[in-house]
Amino acid sequence: MNSNKRPVALITGANGGMGRVIAHHLLGSGYRVILSCRPLGNGMHFCKSAVQEFGAGNVDLLEMDLASLDSVKTAAGQLLDRETCIDVLINNAGMLGWEPEVCCGGYEMHNMVNCLGPMYFTWLVRSLLKDGCRVVNTVSVMLRYGKIPVFFPYPPARFNRFERYSCSKLALTLISFRLAALWKEQGISVNMADPGIVNTPIIRLHKWIDPLTDILFRPFIRQAPRGAATSIFLATDPSVEGITGTLFRDNRPVRLPGRITSHPDADRVWSFFINLCTYGNQQ
Ligand SMILES: NC(=O)c1ccc[n+]([C@@H]2O[C@H](COP(=O)([O-])OP(=O)(O)OC[C@H]3O[C@@H](n4cnc5c(N)ncnc54)[C@H](OP(=O)(O)O)[C@@H]3O)[C@@H](O)[C@H]2O)c1
Repeated sequence: MNSNKRPVALITGANGGMGRVIAHHLLGSGYRVILSCRPLGNGMHFCKSAVQEFGAGNVDLLEMDLASLDSVKTAAGQLLDRETCIDVLINNAGMLGWEPEVCCGGYEMHNMVNCLGPMYFTWLVRSLLKDGCRVVNTVSVMLRYGKIPVFFPYPPARFNRFERYSCSKLALTLISFRLAALWKEQGISVNMADPGIVNTPIIRLHKWIDPLTDILFRPFIRQAPRGAATSIFLATDPSVEGITGTLFRDNRPVRLPGRITSHPDADRVWSFFINLCTYGNQQ
């Protein structure tokens, strides 16, 4: 961590259900927090309210659309221009779509927003991550059901939202393992948080059943503070120092099965990612 200055945290999806909780917690704990939100979304509104509550010197906004490689590159460039160190990078933003969507480069939208976009951003801002810095990637229990198709990260002919979501979170996990190993010697940790099933906008089904689930389901699942707790723990707790490449849930390490830790498609996902980092979307 920065020894002389206040620690700096960057949270993507900071205006989302769990992002807000994480941002409030870190601001309340003395961090200067960079709120990364989608341009033209309600990020600016959230940022203004955070400034009112915590003061302008404690809050910054970084606009970034994780569905766009250009936006990710621009945001990373802005960050490199204005910061010298990011102590904590929480890759929290994520989406669960309800219709097939592709983005820049023809990548399937979940693969881009949940995996390639945040990991590309992390790679680009690597020089801001020093010894002791922590990267927290937000995964999901769904990663266990994910499959990496031969056409990863491009879209399949037939769209299934849960298959696409679980694929993106599995790919995020596989890249997290590799980055953790790559940066371990430099003292940068890369861990993963599984928040559980949490009452936030992302779990909307976009079906007639939504109003019913609002009454019958949402009140009984985890609320955002509990979902956000593991990310906060990984970002701040002294007991996690030196731990990397590990998935946590409820502030405890979770052992993943060998079929995931030694996934047969890990090399393929990694080489796609490294090509993307090396050549941008020119491949
Ligand atoms: N809720 C759950 O049950 C659950 C379970 C497991 C894992 N997770 C993971 O937890 C993380 C936080 O989700 P949440 O539950 O807090 O959901 P949420 O309230 O829907 O928040 C998602 C955040 O991601 C942002 N986002 C979406 N697409 C983006 C894009 N293209 N570029 C930049 N930001 C984008 C959203 O911005 P906008 O407001 O502009 O849309 C929002 O701030 C996600 O990674 C999610 O996959 C959630």
